[in-house]
Amino acid sequence: MNNDIEEVLFDQEQIHEAAVRLGQTITKDYAGRKPLVLSVLKGAYLWTADLVREIDLYVDLEFIKISSYHGGVTSSNEIQLVTDVQSDVAGRDVLIIEDIVDTGQSLRFLKDLLKDRGANSVQVATFLDKKGGRKIEIDADYVGFDVRNEFVVGYGLDYAGLYRNLPYVGILKKDIYS
Ligand code: PRP
Repeated sequence: MNNDIEEVLFDQEQIHEAAVRLGQTITKDYAGRKPLVLSVLKGAYLWTADLVREIDLYVDLEFIKISSYHGGVTSSNEIQLVTDVQSDVAGRDVLIIEDIVDTGQSLRFLKDLLKDRGANSVQVATFLDKKGGRKIEIDADYVGFDVRNEFVVGYGLDYAGLYRNLPYVGILKKDIYS
């Protein structure tokens, strides 16, 4: 699996540092509140596990599953709600945890959904921010790393369902998917 990677962008140590940095900021920003942490499956599963352990607050942890890439390398423009959140978000301070914001369409879909359901506030902590991929104007509130416009895998991010278990993030060799 490691042989399929062209270049490592963020290693385990850098990822840990990002989780600590964001966890401390989120702890300060949400002091006195009990946020509902909403992890977006599947991609955010590792980032969620690492980030929540650096947040020193009472939190509720929920999951939602949406799909936009359908296993490929580009977003399909069509967001599907695959598995809905299992609790009421009305009146809650929701902190969405994403692995990557690329076109921004998934985030737009989620924010609209949560606002429509009466969330008190909706903020986003993304592991990666690929600003060069944006199709709509939307920004994350907390960003682990900015990433250039390359197809990256690992640490939750997949190609055709694979590579999610790589402990680092890297650029996938082009011959793997072309
Ligand atoms: C990925 C990622 C984000 C979304 C970002 O999910 O986890 O949710 O795409 O892309 P966007 O900003 O262009 O909308 P994907 O649909 O690949 O599902 P997965 O997390 O199950 O891999």
